[in-house]
Amino acid sequence: MTDDDTSPTTTGRSASPLLSLRGINKTFGAVRALSGVDLDVYGGEVVALLGDNGAGKSTLVKVLAGVHPADAGTITFKGAIANISTPADAKALGIATIFQDLALCDNLDVVGNLFLGRETGGFFLSEEQMEEEAWGLLRQLSAKIPSVRIPIASLSGGQRQTVAIARALIGEPAIVMLDEPTAALGVQQTQEVLNMIDRLRSRGHGVVLITHNMADVMSVADRAVVIRLGRNNGDFHMATTTHADIVAAITGAVTVEAAATGVDLEGISV
Ligand SMILES: Nc1ncnc2c1ncn2[C@@H]1O[C@H](COP(=O)(O)OP(=O)(O)OP(=O)(O)O)[C@@H](O)[C@H]1O
Ligand SMILES: [Mg+2]
Repeated sequence: MTDDDTSPTTTGRSASPLLSLRGINKTFGAVRALSGVDLDVYGGEVVALLGDNGAGKSTLVKVLAGVHPADAGTITFKGAIANISTPADAKALGIATIFQDLALCDNLDVVGNLFLGRETGGFFLSEEQMEEEAWGLLRQLSAKIPSVRIPIASLSGGQRQTVAIARALIGEPAIVMLDEPTAALGVQQTQEVLNMIDRLRSRGHGVVLITHNMADVMSVADRAVVIRLGRNNGDFHMATTTHADIVAAITGAVTVEAAATGVDLEGISV
């Protein structure tokens, strides 16, 4: 595969997946969190990762973020087998994660948060250069931040989410994963974050969005991948799927196995 296959096209998603997971297993002691999970993420698309509490969504994201390496399975990134054992491996490949708690420092300003830890990169930026870069990143996201010298503690939830997304974009990652980015936000702030996700897609990033909010999924996702009890239970193209189909896959009213054998389990709770 060449780089061209995974480059964003002007018409939408890349021809080949940027990232492919096959047969991912992960156990925590006696708990089997993931069993044989597959996932493809293309450039220029938003994939919603859905599932009930405890389904394994965050575990899958942490496997990709290098926080909890997989026990088995393969990860292919831009056509080559990749080894993700540490957060540094994920970062080096170009996989960025915005965790639910955001991990921002409340007492630092926007610039301080964006460049925190970057001084270990072996180069030096002046305060002016950092401010300029900070504005550049925020502009790319059309972010509504009044000043880059404002402490994080005085920003709204949506503005904090924006800073966390901007920080994730440093280093131009190919894949951006967001764990519940709108969970704590009001209507307008949610819309701003969804607009930002839309912009990430237009810039060619592969976006993985974990959410429990079906309205977010219907409004911004291209595909929805459902995980149930640690296994895949459906991969839906939003253009041809109803809200009810997805909910049935999440709850287990319909399972992949049942669909394959033509058994109609609708209405049966499991
Ligand atoms: N560090 C851990 N140690 C032990 N068990 C864990 C750990 N992390 C996750 N698990 C278990 O793995 C399973 C999957 O959890 P995970 O957090 O991935 O679910 P989730 O789909 O993100 O759920 P939620 O929607 O509630 O965030 C659960 O049974 C959980 O208890
Ligand atoms: Mg979770």
